[in-house]
Amino acid sequence: MQKDINILVVDDEPVVINSCERVLKEKGYNVHSAMRGKDAMLMMKDNIYNLVLTDLKMPEMDGISLIEWIRQSRPDTGIVVITGYPSHQTIQESLNLGCIDYVSKPFTPVMLTDATSRALKRIKKRFPNKEFSPATDIITGYSYIKGGDITNAGSASKALRSHLMGLGIPMEAIRRAAVSAFEAEMNVVMHAVAGILFYILKNTELKLIVRDIGPGMEDVELAMKEGYTTAPHWSKQMGWGTGLGLPNIIKNSDGFKIDSIVDGGTTLEIIISITGIKSNENN
Ligand SMILES: Nc1ncnc2c1ncn2[C@@H]1O[C@H](COP(=O)(O)OP(=O)(O)OP(=O)(O)O)[C@@H](O)[C@H]1O
Ligand SMILES: [Mg+2]
Repeated sequence: MQKDINILVVDDEPVVINSCERVLKEKGYNVHSAMRGKDAMLMMKDNIYNLVLTDLKMPEMDGISLIEWIRQSRPDTGIVVITGYPSHQTIQESLNLGCIDYVSKPFTPVMLTDATSRALKRIKKRFPNKEFSPATDIITGYSYIKGGDITNAGSASKALRSHLMGLGIPMEAIRRAAVSAFEAEMNVVMHAVAGILFYILKNTELKLIVRDIGPGMEDVELAMKEGYTTAPHWSKQMGWGTGLGLPNIIKNSDGFKIDSIVDGGTTLEIIISITGIKSNENN
């Protein structure tokens, strides 16, 4: 069943994403998209994609690095390169890395669907046991957070809140998500250099990921203790810095993971269970 096939399109040009989505959805595939390699990696966390169509030239993380990552960590996911620069060298390079096929831009719907079905056939043959998971609606989004930027502090969690409200999620879950996101965001503002708040909503689970570049934590257990704080003086003058942020996230979430590297950064993964979503169809 085509509907059970999940395809991720990665391209920094919205027009390419739109046309891939239109053409492939029409064929019955379940299609999601990401505009940056790093978002694609996050979306692939649960290994639900059977095929990734990726551009080669993208800002921040190029397609080749993404392909290398997929080959190593998601070997049973097929890769097709979409490229506007089909030089012999880049094509050879991507095929050497294990890409199944390539489509050059601009492409016709037939070129795209042919390459897609060919690639799916080959990946199914190579990994006959990979479960082709049922289609899931995934909704994602992200906001940037700037360290020390008091003026905009809170805007990432506010944006999350309005997105969730637009999706018809029960208020109780929105409140817990917004509180957790706000605490995590404030930690980036107060303690780190810069960060990003991602959210991934899949079925009845909302996952918030707040990743920063910053000093990290030497002792995570200590940082989690109520009342422990190294908050700067300015934040205390504003009523923050009471050492209650991380405990508050734990109180409001259904799952919490923290991963911190000293002089590197910190990543929080926060799970909020959602029940009674009215609709999560607006993918
Ligand atoms: N993203 C981060 N990067 C580096 N250190 C952090 C980060 N988040 C928290 N910490 C460390 O953990 C401590 C406790 O964090 P927590 O959020 O519980 O309290 P706080 O931020 O100090 O104060 P409050 O959240 O009450 O305003 C911080 O003071 C800091 O030392
Ligand atoms: Mg805090």
